[in-house]
Amino acid sequence: MILGIESSCDETAAAVVTPDGDVLSSIIASQADIHSRYGGVVPEVASRRHLEQISPVIREALFTAGIDLGGVTRIGVTRGPGLIGALLVGLSTAKAMAWACGLPLVPVSHLQGHVASLFLGDEPLEPPFVCLLATGGHTQVLAVRDHCSFERLGTTLDDAAGEAFDKGARLLGLPYPGGAEIDRLAQEGDPSAFSFPVASVPGFDFSFSGLKTSLLYTVRDLGEAATAERRADLAASYQRAIVIALTRRLHQVAEAEGLTRLAVVGGVAANSELRAALPDAAVAPLAYCTDNAAMIASAARYAEPLSPAEALVVDAYASAR
Ligand code: KG4
Ligand code: ZN
Repeated sequence: MILGIESSCDETAAAVVTPDGDVLSSIIASQADIHSRYGGVVPEVASRRHLEQISPVIREALFTAGIDLGGVTRIGVTRGPGLIGALLVGLSTAKAMAWACGLPLVPVSHLQGHVASLFLGDEPLEPPFVCLLATGGHTQVLAVRDHCSFERLGTTLDDAAGEAFDKGARLLGLPYPGGAEIDRLAQEGDPSAFSFPVASVPGFDFSFSGLKTSLLYTVRDLGEAATAERRADLAASYQRAIVIALTRRLHQVAEAEGLTRLAVVGGVAANSELRAALPDAAVAPLAYCTDNAAMIASAARYAEPLSPAEALVVDAYASAR
């Protein structure tokens, strides 16, 4: 039984996953309501909330799975990338538990965790495949040829796709986190009402800052009343530009790499238009798209664990390496 722990951003999460990838429990304490009044995640507030939540969330994950600590055979924990103070809460907890219970520990990359969300459940995706990883902090295209690593072929030069959704939502006066809000509103709007730019960046990289600026200018030109009236059209057109940018790259990389299977992971994979635009792509169940600990436990199944003594010297890291 693998206990997964995740605390890289504003979700405190713990899960119990079997070696075969069955999820016995996945508990997520979201802090979104705390941060929404600031329009984004406040790192210090996130760290403090993680501290309050981490023990009860782990306890609940064990309880729901019907096991106690004695039933855990391995701990997987997010080591980075993410908010350093937030990561340290989960990592320190995992190290303390590993040391106290004599359990092996696997430090997991949050990005590898998102990929490993595809390896959960009854019909896990088998490598090789091309994977779009689109979250609030990262947007990358990966060639995944085995269960424990990936090759990064493209990344964003500025904002992440989720960040573009969140910043766009803010410009439209929608609450944080904005991705799901734009998704919902776009269903009532006309995606061809406004023409927003899709950046043409060399290679397989992405850029979303020009799109965000374009929305800013459009909203400014329209004025408050017209923006409010045409919010659904703006959301639909803005979302369409993001979806085109993402799907175009995914197909280009798949062709260049000669890989036929496609997959999408990360919070933005929850987007209904993106899912509809990629009918043949493997997408993790919605519950495992946004941050969760089942994906971290899943990734921990494939890596060589550290002994409790080795685990004590593991440190968190903030940015992707
Ligand atoms: O993977 P995730 O939960 O956290 C990070 O690792 O960043 O992704 C969060 C991001 C946020 O930017 C959020 O707005 C976006 O995923 N998101 C969506 C949707 N649901 C969440 N974006 C577009 N459409 C959605 N339905
Ligand atoms: Zn994430």
